[in-house]
Amino acid sequence: MPRIVQRTEQALERYLPAADIEPATLHEAMRYATLGGGKRLRALLCHAAGELVGAELDTLDGAASAIEMIHAYSLVHDDLPAMDNDLLRRGLPTVHVRYGEAMAILVGDGLQAQAFAVIGELPATAAQKVALLKELASASSSQGMVGGQAIDLASVGLVLAREQLERMHRLKTGAVLRASIFMGAHAGPSTMSPELHAALDQYQRAVGLAFQVVDDILDVTTDAATLGKTPGKDAQDNKPTYVSLLGLDASRALAEELGERARIALLPLGERAAHLLGLADAVVHRIR
Ligand code: IPE
Ligand code: IPE
Ligand code: MG
Ligand code: MG
Ligand code: MG
Repeated sequence: MPRIVQRTEQALERYLPAADIEPATLHEAMRYATLGGGKRLRALLCHAAGELVGAELDTLDGAASAIEMIHAYSLVHDDLPAMDNDLLRRGLPTVHVRYGEAMAILVGDGLQAQAFAVIGELPATAAQKVALLKELASASSSQGMVGGQAIDLASVGLVLAREQLERMHRLKTGAVLRASIFMGAHAGPSTMSPELHAALDQYQRAVGLAFQVVDDILDVTTDAATLGKTPGKDAQDNKPTYVSLLGLDASRALAEELGERARIALLPLGERAAHLLGLADAVVHRIR
């Protein structure tokens, strides 16, 4: 998988406007927000799902870059003073600390549009591009990531019921992870079989939720040097999280259980799904 991470860095490098194109500071800041430092989990999921359907690597690079741009934009806005007010991201000062708040807003806006532009330019059929655009748009929408972020902000200081917390996590984080997987599968030469669709859907539900459960755990258990972001922020900001609702031990047990559910979802796919299986394990057992 290091090969895919490297491909993704190179593809992002190509798909982002160069830092000397006007307006140069905006492009420099878009590159600062996106390049280097991310785990590239969404790109890895996209490639692993694409591998199952025999998708072209160039198409997967484009789809993976588009998702990583949406993800990077969501992080830049998530860190803004009006949202989580974070100073550290991927081990570096956040975009608004480095470039100012107005520029950080524009960086997010620019990255979001660029993601859709990348899909438009892919060497894929019109039908494939429409499928990819639909996945990306719905994952980013007010009924996807942005909706989850709105619920997150409206939930500060509240004790959410477990179903409400799950819904928030599925939207703010699960939706983009789901899109990473389904965009990989849509990049293949033929339409997905109902069996593959069902297996991937079960898998994304488990992995998408596990990812944010572990994010909530790491916020409590991990130091800034490892995490690359300021720990302890969720409790400080009074955010409802899996740890605040269930405690650490039950949250860890839930992450393991979701990892097991992801493994079971992949059983019908056999050996072909080895990379997706490895990624589910990486999500549950990650340390940053
Ligand atoms: C962090 O995502 C934000 C959430 C959606 C919880 P990642 O932990 O995948 O961040 P990077 O891309 O590796 O920095
Ligand atoms: C952010 O969740 C999810 C999105 C950026 C959409 P968090 O606020 O928990 O993410 P971190 O912990 O700052 O990375
Ligand atoms: Mg947040
Ligand atoms: Mg945050
Ligand atoms: Mg977090």
